[in-house]
Amino acid sequence: MVKSRIYYTKPSITELEVEYATDAARNGWGERCYQYINRFEETFKQHLRVKYAIATSSCTGALHMGMSALGIGLGDEVILADTNWIATAAPIVHLGAKPVFVDILPDTWCIDPDLAEAAITPRTKAIIAVHLYGNLCNMDRLLKIGSKYNIPIIEDSAEAIGSVYHGKRAGSMGTFGSFSFHGTKTLTTGEGGMFVTNDPELYETVLTLSNHGRSKKQTKQFWPDIIGFKYKMSNIQAAIGCAQMERIEELVARKRGILRFYKERLEVLPDVSMNPESEGTINGAWMPTVVFGKKTGITREKLQTFFNAENIDARVFFHPLSSLSMFEDKRENVNAWDIPTRAINLPSYHDLSKDNIESIVNIVKKFI
Ligand SMILES: Cc1ncc(COP(=O)(O)O)c(C=O)c1O
Repeated sequence: MVKSRIYYTKPSITELEVEYATDAARNGWGERCYQYINRFEETFKQHLRVKYAIATSSCTGALHMGMSALGIGLGDEVILADTNWIATAAPIVHLGAKPVFVDILPDTWCIDPDLAEAAITPRTKAIIAVHLYGNLCNMDRLLKIGSKYNIPIIEDSAEAIGSVYHGKRAGSMGTFGSFSFHGTKTLTTGEGGMFVTNDPELYETVLTLSNHGRSKKQTKQFWPDIIGFKYKMSNIQAAIGCAQMERIEELVARKRGILRFYKERLEVLPDVSMNPESEGTINGAWMPTVVFGKKTGITREKLQTFFNAENIDARVFFHPLSSLSMFEDKRENVNAWDIPTRAINLPSYHDLSKDNIESIVNIVKKFI
């Protein structure tokens, strides 16, 4: 058994993050109150190679504002994969629209573009491409569908910082992209998110929404023009984000290194598959995940019991959203309903030692 518990994830915080956060806490007020926020947005924009970025309090908030700015509302439909965390679906419901869940592909665990196209109705107002665990959606197909039906393609890249699709960073290809900097993510600000787009009008609308409806052009003080939101990031959080951005290459490289290590040792075993990396793409490797073949008889419950006994965090593969009580049951999404029953996320925080990873691999082998 591993002696001290191995957690599935925690952030990589160095003296640099502490130094910037301390500076923001001491001096980041008055005329410097937006300094780190502006810098964080600027470096993020450059990294992603997009025109506009707005730091937010969460990815959920970025999605909520982005979809509101697209005019998504009562009676509209938004198509997304059944496999996901509820954070992408909740803002759709808050806007009075309906999330339409379609099945995932068996290899990428991301939305099946054919099923997304088949689900389009006159009420469809967007398709959300969620790059699950850092795996990439088929963006060529989705963007073509978007152009064909004149439907925006939103990229929920909460889990995909560091992922690259044929030279373009995840989050930079759709009508807008969203990111999460929650403490479990590759790059963290504790809690936090980012809205990104190349569309100047959409940017202006989200900027206004993000400031309680106060337009940048409004000269009157405390004069909201529309009902907006309050999903702002603080200067102290942004200071941590600035430090993390200086280390972004290192942070992503470490996650990729951990995934490679697992893949080299586990994918050689019969009936075991992990996060794919198809030609021309780079997987940001947020969450190394193992899926066992049906014939192995391995189940999530058995895996959890075994991992817990070995003192290792066992994080379940996302349950299908359509299995939750507030949504309509969609068992026809066979991959979304089946894969989680024989899969598990493996620990992957940056400071995980080689010995730790080796012992996790050995425990998986022992289990098999
Ligand atoms: C795919 C996906 N979208 C959105 C979110 C929401 O991110 P946040 O917690 O920053 O709101 C998450 C969070 O884990 C996520 O995994």
